[in-house]
Amino acid sequence: ISSPGDDGIPQKLTILDNGFENTACMESAITHIDGYRGTVHYRGMAIEDLFRDNDFEDVLHLLVWGNLPTASQKKATRASINSALVPPKNVINTIAAFPRDAETYPMVIAGLSAFIASDKAARDSRQSQKPTYRNDLNKADQAILRTIAYYATTIALIHCHKRNKPFTKPDPKGSLVGNLLLMMGILDPATGKGPDPELVACLEKLWILYADHEMTNSTAGMLHAASTLTDPTSAIMAGLVCGFGPLHGGAIDLAYKALGEIKDPKYVPGFIEVVKQKKMRLFGYGHRIYKTRDPRLALIEELIEKSKDKVADNPLLKVALAIDRVANQDEYFVSRNLKANADLLGCFFYSALGFERDMIIAIICLSRLPGGLAHWRETLEKPIKLWRPRQIYSGPKPADQTIQPRRQ
Ligand code: ACO
Repeated sequence: ISSPGDDGIPQKLTILDNGFENTACMESAITHIDGYRGTVHYRGMAIEDLFRDNDFEDVLHLLVWGNLPTASQKKATRASINSALVPPKNVINTIAAFPRDAETYPMVIAGLSAFIASDKAARDSRQSQKPTYRNDLNKADQAILRTIAYYATTIALIHCHKRNKPFTKPDPKGSLVGNLLLMMGILDPATGKGPDPELVACLEKLWILYADHEMTNSTAGMLHAASTLTDPTSAIMAGLVCGFGPLHGGAIDLAYKALGEIKDPKYVPGFIEVVKQKKMRLFGYGHRIYKTRDPRLALIEELIEKSKDKVADNPLLKVALAIDRVANQDEYFVSRNLKANADLLGCFFYSALGFERDMIIAIICLSRLPGGLAHWRETLEKPIKLWRPRQIYSGPKPADQTIQPRRQ
């Protein structure tokens, strides 16, 4: 609504919607979540089907370009990512400048900053008066694939630096999952050479579940930045700042920390009482969209079942399951529709697969990049619109009352 008020100044309807609970910021044809029925579809395809029949690179293609790839499309996508995996010297030096016990998150931002400092195309796009990527979707596609590569290399370098071990060059023909493990130096214990095929197969599936989740806080953060027409690597840095926050991606870390502190299922009821007194949140529980159990949990449980030998005796799995059991019957959680989200078991599973806590969110963010970048590409085909929410001013009346109302 926009009509002139008594003083001639246009009156606009402004809605206060804390946390944007009821406000959509764009139309999207990528991911559909039904939070009441507990379903997720990527481009109309159920994640359960994709999980069973496809790998992560298929899903990447599906999310970004709208179709499952042909063999040659898949090969070309992989080749483009792999050609950008090798880090320039300034990126290596940037990561090496951090203390080995530094937190992962600032290292990620620094590593990506170093990457864009030597990416001429990204700089040109920011300094051009014309919207580079909108005018040339081919350039946008190459920037998407480079961004994925930059991020994968950055986290591999961080992993190696923190553990004082050498960074391994990627395999030019390898998959993204395989190359991440290779660059991190996580090798098949049987051969000591390439990545462990079983671990690769498991991550190919797990990553599908995290590849997109419609307008999450981090995707919205990324798109907010992207609406200024910055380049996609810079935009994902904004998304990552959100992704590492405790109520969002960072929850996975805190959920795992809590499992470790509880140690034994017998302490779960006491822990839940502390949560109910609102002294802390139960991380890995609750979701803005799901009012039912997160459907990704059942698929993570399938993976856990398949990896029984690795996880069965892990006492933390028993703690996670006990939390779910107790919370599911407790009035506090039932009355607020709070159910387990994917982080409750996701954190546990990553750790059971041998990943250390400091790298888990960073790896999950890699698996989310296809979704974020698919949304970015989708905005390129819509009219330019800077994201700029309003506020409802509630401070003191402006002191200067001398301004005369404008008459039209
Ligand atoms: N533990 C305890 N209480 C909770 C939790 C929780 N995990 N989540 C929500 N509540 C309570 C709130 O205290 C509030 O209670 P009230 O009505 O008495 O005030 C009520 O439930 C509603 O909470 P909101 O924060 O308004 O709900 P919202 O939909 O905004 O929150 C969120 C969603 C942030 C995910 C929340 O459930 C939470 O903090 N969960 C823990 C963090 C987490 O696991 N995040 C990961 C989400 S999935 C992802 O992003 C990858």
